[in-house]
Amino acid sequence: MKIVYRVNAPISVGQLAEIFEASGLKRPVADKGRIRKMRKHANLTVRAWDGTKIVRVARAPTDLAFCSYVSGLGVRAKDQRRGIGKRMLQLIRRKLGSEVMVLLLSAPQAKEYYPIVGFEKVENAWKIARKR
Ligand SMILES: CC(C)(COP(=O)(O)OP(=O)(O)OC[C@H]1O[C@@H](n2cnc3c(N)ncnc32)[C@H](O)[C@@H]1OP(=O)(O)O)[C@@H](O)C(=O)NCCC(=O)NCCS
Repeated sequence: MKIVYRVNAPISVGQLAEIFEASGLKRPVADKGRIRKMRKHANLTVRAWDGTKIVRVARAPTDLAFCSYVSGLGVRAKDQRRGIGKRMLQLIRRKLGSEVMVLLLSAPQAKEYYPIVGFEKVENAWKIARKR
C-alpha cells in the first residue's frame, strides 16, 4: 500500500506508545502521562501511514528559527529499508528550512544510517542523561 506522510497530524497517546514499542525504541511507554506530555510538546512531527495504520513517527521539537532535535525516528521492523526514514527526514528538513540546525542522538544500531541520509558526525556534543 502507498505510504502517506502527514506533518503535525493528530495521534492518540495509545498510537504513539504503540509505534514506539513496535519500532523497538526505548521510550517510557508504560507511563501514559509522560507519553501524553511527549505528544503535546513536540511541535514538529511527521507520521507515516499505511492505510489506517501508523508505521512510523519522527518527532523534532524546534524553535523553527535556529535549532531542532530529532527524537524517535522509529519504524516497525517489517517496514524498515523502504525509504520511509529518508522521506521523513526530508520532510522535517523542508519544514525547518536552511536556517535551522538538526541535531540527533543515534541509537547504536543506526550509527551507519545517519551519514547515508546527510548527517555529519560532531565531536562537540555533550549531554546530561535523564535518570529514568
Ligand atoms: C534506522 C532506521 C530509522 C532507518 O529507517 P529506514 O526507513 O529503515 O531507512 P531507509 O529506508 O530510509 O534507508 C535509507 C538508506 O539507508 C540504509 N539503511 C537503513 N537502515 C540502515 C542502518 N541501520 N544502517 C545502515 N544503513 C541503513 C538503507 O539501506 C537505504 O540505503 P539506499 O538509499 O542506498 O537504499 C529504521 O531502520 C529504524 O526505525 N530502526 C529501529 C529503530 C531505530 O534504531 N531508530 C533510530 C533511533 S536513533
